[in-house]
Amino acid sequence: MTHHIKSAQTIENIYDSADLITQEVLKRYEGTPDPRLRELMLSLIKHLHGFARDVKLTGNEWTFLMGFLEETGKWCFPGRNEFVIFSDALGLSMLTVTQDYKRPLHATEPTLVGPFLLEEAPRFEMGSDISGGAAGSPMYARGRILDTEGKPVARALIDVWHSDERGLYDVQEDLQKTGPWARALLTTGADGGYAFWSVLPVDYPIPQDGTAIRMMRATTGRTWRPAHLHFRIRAEGFLTLITHIFDRSSGNLDGDAVFGVRPSLIADFIPQSLGKAPDGKVMDRDFYTLDYDFVMVRG
Ligand code: BEZ
Ligand code: FE
Repeated sequence: MTHHIKSAQTIENIYDSADLITQEVLKRYEGTPDPRLRELMLSLIKHLHGFARDVKLTGNEWTFLMGFLEETGKWCFPGRNEFVIFSDALGLSMLTVTQDYKRPLHATEPTLVGPFLLEEAPRFEMGSDISGGAAGSPMYARGRILDTEGKPVARALIDVWHSDERGLYDVQEDLQKTGPWARALLTTGADGGYAFWSVLPVDYPIPQDGTAIRMMRATTGRTWRPAHLHFRIRAEGFLTLITHIFDRSSGNLDGDAVFGVRPSLIADFIPQSLGKAPDGKVMDRDFYTLDYDFVMVRG
């Protein structure tokens, strides 16, 4: 005997029309013991279900997305995290960084960390050349680490990392072979000052081989970052400051692929003719100088 569906309502849309699935899921997650986890999960489920309803997400599309995320996971290893790049490209990194970091207006603005920070960076004496043989124009960077009253922050740990003149980071090559380059850990003395030699960073596209760039090519078309130096500055009694200094002469300040540019972080990398550098070193080729002070927040 054949089975007839009597009403116009088909079996497939019962759940959706009555909103039952979302209610059922929310009800179960309401029992989550940890209050913050409960809040996060309930909101996430509401928004995820809302998204799927809004766009009438198909099974094929969801399967495609899961495969895309699986492939993204394959681009995660020390020195590379493709999920970080996704978070950056969707503006989520800047959103969380900005709402997390409470600061008075004259304290240095934070920005995203990016995918290329290494926890173990080589230590250098203040004033050293940290380029490690990286190709590029010489650059001398200096400034001070200050608190919000303008007093020097002693024993601050400064991680700095940046690209070479090809727009590549050490971690994008074989670190085992080359060792780290254009990457350092420096410690401030009593004057809170920092100084180092390296090479001038350049504009670069986000990694060309992963999944994030595929999404960006298919959507915003913005895949470039303006030239910058990365800094992470840690000091006892202060909030950790993760930020960049951007080169004012970059043509990509308006369209940073990952929304990281803040106007207060743009500085002049000033071209200098060969001769005596600010630290007394005699240069036999032209070079650049950068002066920038960082203001840290107690916390
Ligand atoms: C970076 O600045 O190192 C970076 C940030 C986001 C994506 C790729 C690279
Ligand atoms: Fe970078």
